[in-house]
Amino acid sequence: DLSTTIAGRTFSNCMMNAAGVRCADDNDLNQIIASPAGAYVTKSATPNVREGNPEPRMKSLPGGCINSMGLPNHGLDYYLNFVLQDQAKRPDKTNLLSVAGTTLEDNLTMLHKVEDSEFNGFVELNLSCPNVPGKPQVGYDFDRVHEILVQVFDFYDKPLGVKLPPYFDLVHFDQIAKILNEFPLTFVNSINSVGNGLVIDPNAERVAIKPKGGFGGIGGTFIKPTALANVRGLSLRLKPEIAIIGTGGVMNGTDVFEHILCGASMVQVGTQFGFEGTRIFKRLSKELSAIMDAKGYQSIADFKGKLKTF
Ligand code: DHB
Repeated sequence: DLSTTIAGRTFSNCMMNAAGVRCADDNDLNQIIASPAGAYVTKSATPNVREGNPEPRMKSLPGGCINSMGLPNHGLDYYLNFVLQDQAKRPDKTNLLSVAGTTLEDNLTMLHKVEDSEFNGFVELNLSCPNVPGKPQVGYDFDRVHEILVQVFDFYDKPLGVKLPPYFDLVHFDQIAKILNEFPLTFVNSINSVGNGLVIDPNAERVAIKPKGGFGGIGGTFIKPTALANVRGLSLRLKPEIAIIGTGGVMNGTDVFEHILCGASMVQVGTQFGFEGTRIFKRLSKELSAIMDAKGYQSIADFKGKLKTF
């Protein structure tokens, strides 16, 4: 049984896509709906359509990738319309609508629209996009995170979670968890890409992508230890009402298993979903089920957060 529960909502499978990869239009989203994934999250939306950064803006690497897409998306109305129509067809399913304003005002405008709509799923408020030139990753400015959440929860009453950047210092885990625990968050999603890496082609003596002089978000196998540290670090610090979605470095069923051991209730797949498409959810489900069978685990709850230490 690979099902999982967050805030009383049951998901048939604990795996889903990560925002940004193959989830930008109806066609992408309908393919996820047709797969064994337990839910989908839509490409992070801004209030209006955005073209994003100039190409090349994504480069695949062995086991990973670098990207600086710059929030190309169809605008909030497009994604809100999609989730509302889907919700009318499948009222028993919960899905995630990702929102990533480049300003506080944009986030509040979008969340008011969602609040005033019939949407009954989860909003994933993205506080960690590294790829808009001149816009810092909000998740690294703790006072700003606090300010945003004060303003959001002043009016927003539906289930909402935040997508966080990776943290690399235990004091930062303490600081962000203290802030997040002040609010009625449904979940935190950890981690977004490891921001502002640099991939170069030594032959051409050139950077791999065009935006920002080649700097971009890193995903894939390289980031799994950082992702697990963040899931574990937050799991140990957040109040139990806040569920954790684990994202980062998931290529196989063992990676999913490890995220759940660290405390994830649900696991998102970005880079490798980009490589494989929706068939990945069947493969990962088989691989996780095999691990659980071998260990005698019948449900996610049997091992969620039960990582052992010396
Ligand atoms: C983009 C990248 C991200 O990591 C993110 O969280 C949002 C948007 C992008 O470049 O489009």
